[in-house]
Amino acid sequence: MAFVSTTSVLFMLFILTSAKSIPNYIENRINLIESEVDMQLGSDVILNDDEKQANEILMHWKQKEIEESFRNPQHFNFSKHYFAYKNDIPKSKVYQIIKRMPKGAVLHVHSSLMLSADRLLNLTYEEHLYMCNDDGDLQFRFSEDTPKSPCSIDWVLLKDLRNLNGAKFDESLKEYLTLFSESDSVCSKTNDINSIWRKFEKVSNLVSQLIIYRPVTEKFFYEALIEFYEDNIQYIEIRSGLKTLYELNGTVHDKLYMPRLYREVAERFKRDHPDFVGVKLIVTRHRLKTDEEIRKTINMARQVKQELPSFFAGFDLVGQEDLGRPLSDILPFLAEAKNDLQYYFHGGETNWYGTSADENLFDAVLLGSKRIGHAYGLIKHPSLLMAVKQKDIALEVNVVSNVVLGLVHDVRNHPLATYLALGLPVVLSSDDPGVWGADPLSHDFYITFVGVASKRADLRLLKQLAINSIKYSTLNIQHKEILFRVFYSKWDVFIKQVLTMSATL
Ligand SMILES: *[C@@H]1O[C@H](CO)[C@@H](O)[C@H](O)[C@H]1NC(C)=O
Ligand SMILES: *[C@@H]1O[C@H](CO)[C@@H](O)[C@H](O)[C@H]1NC(C)=O
Ligand SMILES: *[C@@H]1O[C@H](CO)[C@@H](O)[C@H](O)[C@H]1NC(C)=O
Ligand SMILES: [Zn+2]
Repeated sequence: MAFVSTTSVLFMLFILTSAKSIPNYIENRINLIESEVDMQLGSDVILNDDEKQANEILMHWKQKEIEESFRNPQHFNFSKHYFAYKNDIPKSKVYQIIKRMPKGAVLHVHSSLMLSADRLLNLTYEEHLYMCNDDGDLQFRFSEDTPKSPCSIDWVLLKDLRNLNGAKFDESLKEYLTLFSESDSVCSKTNDINSIWRKFEKVSNLVSQLIIYRPVTEKFFYEALIEFYEDNIQYIEIRSGLKTLYELNGTVHDKLYMPRLYREVAERFKRDHPDFVGVKLIVTRHRLKTDEEIRKTINMARQVKQELPSFFAGFDLVGQEDLGRPLSDILPFLAEAKNDLQYYFHGGETNWYGTSADENLFDAVLLGSKRIGHAYGLIKHPSLLMAVKQKDIALEVNVVSNVVLGLVHDVRNHPLATYLALGLPVVLSSDDPGVWGADPLSHDFYITFVGVASKRADLRLLKQLAINSIKYSTLNIQHKEILFRVFYSKWDVFIKQVLTMSATL
């Protein structure tokens, strides 16, 4: 445990207050600061000469950004809603460096919400797509003839609507495929968490309808992998429900078809991109489902594990924790499958203290969760903070998600700052980057590095976060080694790039 004990802090304070001379005081001050710095995530990383030089360049730009904001807090972007400054991020030199950085793995992302709205919109150009628009409630269905599924108005061929309405059509359709809007109406500070989540689940449902048509599923997932790959990500653990895919002629596939298809697409992507290491699947179910439905999915997860052992990673429950069933409610099933399935539970994605959502954190630890999704409320639980450190349970922190979904308005107040200071096993991820138009990972890294972490936190933190993403992945030892090898060789190239960038900055 890296916590400084209370007695040693008191002892330090005693020394400080009884300091007889300034030199003594200064030395004690240095020691006190150092004891803290030693605890921070990244403090164990030792930089070589090239890395030190790259670090100087990186820190020059980081300090500059922070100092400017410190002098002009009215212009400080990270205390505003993400949507207010998102499009300006590419101007940042720190971001430009982070963008090029190899980041290892993404360990917390929901596959149906990986892809950006622009590329999703492109998928609506596929033939045979019908749309039902019931006063702003949209449905999609691919079909040879008019779909038979219920629509209170009329199913209309999307192509016809598009031809009728021109370019404006795409603009308005896109708004249904993302939470992002320039005017920031739904997600502004005046909106409560439940209404943001309602809009979020609506987008999520519509996207799901688009991508469960088998030919689109393949294109969708391949495109999503391209976006992640281009953001310098080498490996991904996706979370997904087992969706029923269908064909144009009405054929409906069984639920194991989807993981098979995802695996095939991932394999094809790997063949096309030999420096991409792969994908694994965490099977999920919505936490509002009944006992019976959840039990079924657990059994299906067992089948996926049996049939695709190298693709299967584990099990999780998804959906808004505040309104969903707590883990303790489903305990009998979860405890029963505990030794069969590895758990990667969402836990404590809430601002409430002492509620069932907050206390999911206890169950996640007790049920042997290998990592915890968000763990936003963990900061309020000293015994769990210790348990997480002792058991080496990684925290999958998603800063941009927490802003957009209404947990935190000013990222300087994000509990991640404390997790980093305590040297907890943190990995950064992006949750649903497609839905809010974020980079697959670079925005989360950039905002964390400049807005959440200490002003002094440097390249060592970034490197440790990338290393953690590999270390806490579910890959076996051999595959971790492969991933580390790929990562380190990209890292060397990245450092050289930063050094040549300095000339042009
Ligand atoms: C902050 O956002 C403003 C626009 O709101 C933009 O002009 C500026 O470049 C941004 N600063 C940084 C460091 O991204
Ligand atoms: C959209 O799809 C077309 C082909 O259907 C492709 O040529 C184009 O590059 C795509 N655009 C994007 C942004 O993916
Ligand atoms: C329906 O389409 C799929 C994919 O094109 C094909 O494999 C299947 O044989 C078709 N089934 C029927 C009954 O036509
Ligand atoms: Zn999530």
